[in-house]
Amino acid sequence: MKSLLIAGNWKSNKTLNETEDWLEQLQLKWVTAGINWPNVKLILCASFTLLYFLNQKIKQLGLPLSLGAQDVSPFGDGAYTGAVNARQLQELAQWVIIGHFERRKYFGETDELLAQKAGQAKRAGLKVIFCVPETTTPVPENIDVVAYEPVWAIGTGKSDTAENAGSVMATIKKQTRATSVIYGGSVVADNIARFVAQPAIDGVLAGTASLAPETFFALIVAAMTTS
Ligand code: PGA
Repeated sequence: MKSLLIAGNWKSNKTLNETEDWLEQLQLKWVTAGINWPNVKLILCASFTLLYFLNQKIKQLGLPLSLGAQDVSPFGDGAYTGAVNARQLQELAQWVIIGHFERRKYFGETDELLAQKAGQAKRAGLKVIFCVPETTTPVPENIDVVAYEPVWAIGTGKSDTAENAGSVMATIKKQTRATSVIYGGSVVADNIARFVAQPAIDGVLAGTASLAPETFFALIVAAMTTS
């Protein structure tokens, strides 16, 4: 069985209280199910405001979750009011999502800016999940994971077919030489197994399905028991 990466992207959701509830409920499910799957890597990508607490609580509960941020400053230390830089972030997270379509669309982030962010993240030792909506989107050098997310599939409940995603992602893998390529866009427990069964697909990036502990847990179970 191949190794899988399952990343949850909470986007701009959750308070500290809601985060605590989510973790406690997930842990209950985890312990009850007595799960030990060494070949799945779980990453939770959350708002900056939650990362310190998430770190503490994940340790306390013994959950097998790594943490990711959803953005990083294109600059280092200095006079950049409001920015969280990669050196600050690496104290709280191992991963960062860069280039998500929502950053490109709502925050006007360009390919050039995203390459600058990726450079900052890599220099600080963070691992990067770099999102691309299509095969022609530029991917900076030394990216750890590329996430293919067709725009029309994000948050719509209409995922790509596993076959099409698999063939697009085989092309992306060849072009970028990324070690892992994951699929994002309306991934749920009912379709995850079809995606991860494709040879070029190494995992998923799930938004909506990561928001409730039940649906996130169901994703993991469906991926691990049917692939
Ligand atoms: P979705 O979001 O699972 O809700 O489609 C995926 C993403 O935007 O990363």
